[in-house]
Amino acid sequence: MTLDELSKQLTKIELQVATGLRELDQIDAVRSFESSVLGKQGSIGLLLKNIRDYPPEERGQVGQVINSAKAKAKAIIDARLNEIQREAVEKESQGASDVDPTLPGGVEPLGSLHPVTMVQLEIERIFERFGFTVETGPEMESEFHNFDALNIPADHPARDMQDTFWLNNGQVLRTHTSPVQHRAMKKFGAPLRIIAPGRCFRYETLDASHENTFHQVEGLVIDREISIPNLIAMSKALLQEVMQREVKLRVRPGFFPFVEPGLEIDMNCQICGGSGCATCKHSGWVEILPAGMVHPEVLRAGGIDPDQYSGFAFGLGLTRLAMMKYGIRDIRVLNNGDLRPIVCSQRLGGPILVNKAS
Ligand code: DAH
Repeated sequence: MTLDELSKQLTKIELQVATGLRELDQIDAVRSFESSVLGKQGSIGLLLKNIRDYPPEERGQVGQVINSAKAKAKAIIDARLNEIQREAVEKESQGASDVDPTLPGGVEPLGSLHPVTMVQLEIERIFERFGFTVETGPEMESEFHNFDALNIPADHPARDMQDTFWLNNGQVLRTHTSPVQHRAMKKFGAPLRIIAPGRCFRYETLDASHENTFHQVEGLVIDREISIPNLIAMSKALLQEVMQREVKLRVRPGFFPFVEPGLEIDMNCQICGGSGCATCKHSGWVEILPAGMVHPEVLRAGGIDPDQYSGFAFGLGLTRLAMMKYGIRDIRVLNNGDLRPIVCSQRLGGPILVNKAS
């Protein structure tokens, strides 16, 4: 290649570099374009390598021509790289200008669900898996639903078993969730499987284990051939799932006018493990699940034929279960909203609330 031809060739390459670069807007693409021109095997790189083919007297001039073309190409490439970088920074700062730095920052919501709510939601999920539906009933209840429909007539001494808040309008604050049993029977007929979580009220003197406001989960299963072993198997499965550990049950006879026979299903105290503590009154057991086979009178009142169907019912002490699960020793901390006496520990594998005073 004569010097003249070489000059023409270099002019062509310069042109190619200028037009080729215009198409490229990514740094990586420009870098690989650069090596295709200036690298050892690149269009200018190869020309430099071939200098030795020229007669020695021409080599100086050839070198000068090629090196000046090389410097020009390098300058154009560097300019394009700068341009791309500047554009990227501009784009970024435009995006950032959408943010108004004078606005207050986003605030993470504080707080968490109440321990009773957490256990209630967990129980609802478990029973839904067992095929139950979740029902509710009113907190201000009629005397009929709270008592009569549950086989507790006006003159029955069992009315005094529960200290009741009577309202001026003749209604009561429900003393238990059992009135939902009657409502559910009327609504669905038989067979049925429901639970009814909710708040209950009793005219109690407050102490570490008595509150005037607490939660229960009523349960009712009505079908053909329902028996006590079904009830006990379900109780154990439920309590173990909530406590996330093996629990022991103890079954005793109990009296409730709306069941026959009536049972007290106790769980080994989860605070002391059964060895005895103030919470379980040193017995090692807590009454957690009063229950029984639904009384024929209650089925009849709900429009269900006791000769065709039987059922079991239970009134799970939800507040007490939450206390067991989270190691809460004093029921009063659940309602008073005062967090000062509460400290967290991990002893039962979760957020444990313990009253410092106890
Ligand atoms: N309602 C009862 C109470 O609050 C608890 C109860 C006992 C509910 C036995 C039931 C049951 O469904 O079968 O004292």
